[in-house]
Amino acid sequence: MNQQSAAPVLIMTGVSKRFAGVQALKEVSLSAHAGEVLALMGENGAGKSTLLKVMTGNYIPDAGQIMIDGAPVHLTTPGDARRLGIRVVPQEPEIIPYVSVAENIYAGALPTRGRLFNRAALRARVAADIERSGFSGMIDPDQLGNTLSPAQRQIVEILRALSGPLRVLAFDEPTSSLSDHEADSLFRLIARLTDSGVAVIYVSHRMKEILRIATRVLVLRDGQTVGVRPARETSESELVRLMVGRDLSALYHRSARQPGAVVLSVDKISSADIHDVTFTVRSGEVVVLAGLVGAGRTELARAIIGDVPITAGQIRMDGKVLHLASPRDAVRAGLCLAPEERKAQALLMKRSVRDNISLAVLQSLSRWHIIRRGAERRLAAESVAALHIRTPSLEQEVATLSGGNQQKTVLARWLARQSRLMILDEPTRGVDVGAKADIYAIIDRLASAGAAILVISSELPEVLGLADRIVVMQHGTVSGTLDRADATEEKILSLAILERAA
Ligand SMILES: Nc1ncnc2c1ncn2[C@@H]1O[C@H](COP(=O)(O)OP(=O)(O)OP(=O)(O)O)[C@@H](O)[C@H]1O
Ligand SMILES: [Mg+2]
Repeated sequence: MNQQSAAPVLIMTGVSKRFAGVQALKEVSLSAHAGEVLALMGENGAGKSTLLKVMTGNYIPDAGQIMIDGAPVHLTTPGDARRLGIRVVPQEPEIIPYVSVAENIYAGALPTRGRLFNRAALRARVAADIERSGFSGMIDPDQLGNTLSPAQRQIVEILRALSGPLRVLAFDEPTSSLSDHEADSLFRLIARLTDSGVAVIYVSHRMKEILRIATRVLVLRDGQTVGVRPARETSESELVRLMVGRDLSALYHRSARQPGAVVLSVDKISSADIHDVTFTVRSGEVVVLAGLVGAGRTELARAIIGDVPITAGQIRMDGKVLHLASPRDAVRAGLCLAPEERKAQALLMKRSVRDNISLAVLQSLSRWHIIRRGAERRLAAESVAALHIRTPSLEQEVATLSGGNQQKTVLARWLARQSRLMILDEPTRGVDVGAKADIYAIIDRLASAGAAILVISSELPEVLGLADRIVVMQHGTVSGTLDRADATEEKILSLAILERAA
């Protein structure tokens, strides 16, 4: 890796931070050197984002000290940290909807004093920023904030962070919304930044990525440091043990199940972005849709639930042709989709964990339009336990949960519905390894109880671990189907990537 200078740029010592009911950080210390990538790992709710927010003056710690180049600093606002060159690319990008990418990046720093704001100059500057940071072709300076994909929103945050002086740059789970290609661009950017002496702090749940780019790995558990390891001297299993506090022997638990009758039958359907897609899902079967980001899997899922119009073909459930005009019809017909972008599409941030979980099942929980509170609370409590959602209580406002625990909360809502057909789009995005195992166990249990399950996943180990059958998509159509027994990473990849002979 890169040459490290002897003295750390950033030192944090004994940092503690308490929220109502939660000790988020307890005497955490870290140091970050110029030119290194310090990875932060830990379960959902371990305190990673909180630590970054202390570093950027978004939270004022209850105790502890921060030093830059050996001198103590007091960060009371994000502006203080920015002036010192400490920046974070946050877990949830903040994008202003109806203004351009260029203005989103330089909002607050637009050249306005004494002269008219020069749109053309700004656009040229941002075009150059995009070029220089290696994101050419992935984002356009004129695009409006509300039209950006999750990956493009990340890129805006990255360009914001690069727009001022820079000593320490932290990324909070940057790749969870990036395709492999976009992630590679990000890794190249990180390498250039460290070469130029920036200290990079990198939060991720992706083990392989961390072992590839990090210099050292710091593991947090329950708000405390449990270890710091040189990346070259550690392993996936050691990191899991440090994070979870135990060995995770069976990530994928599978019961012996016999698929039954066909529940979902998709027959030659096309829509704006998919064409001629055919496959089935049986009762008791887990089918995984694999393929590259952008291959049309989310579009296909939305077509199945009536969220995008179908231009040709038929979808049948239990043998009967479905005519779904909206996702609401789908729910009535016994199928549901847990969408990929759960936070943006589904969470009521100001409401409680209980409200958010019970939302999808209020119908079955109410009698004569009166919600049975006891049943509702029981359901929420069971979900919180099954997915290990870390919250001080069921009444906690969802906005205060950690990113991964918010993800688990919405997923719990869809799982609680126990539909006959469930479509789960990237169900483990942003969750830690322990929670992944929980989610896989729930999927296995639902399938054993006879549900037909369609999972969209971009992680190959997950595809192989979960699937009874794998349907691979490429360019909006099915490029091949593999049975569990003969599926390998290579076969899936070649179906996802290789151009087929005409
Ligand atoms: N503003 C807040 N109010 C109350 N509690 C909070 C607040 N912010 C964070 N917490 C709590 O502090 C703990 C640490 O949260 P944090 O967001 O730092 O976790 P994390 O390690 O980033 O997790 P994830 O991997 O899920 O993003 C959690 O229990 C969370 O619910
Ligand atoms: Mg976080």
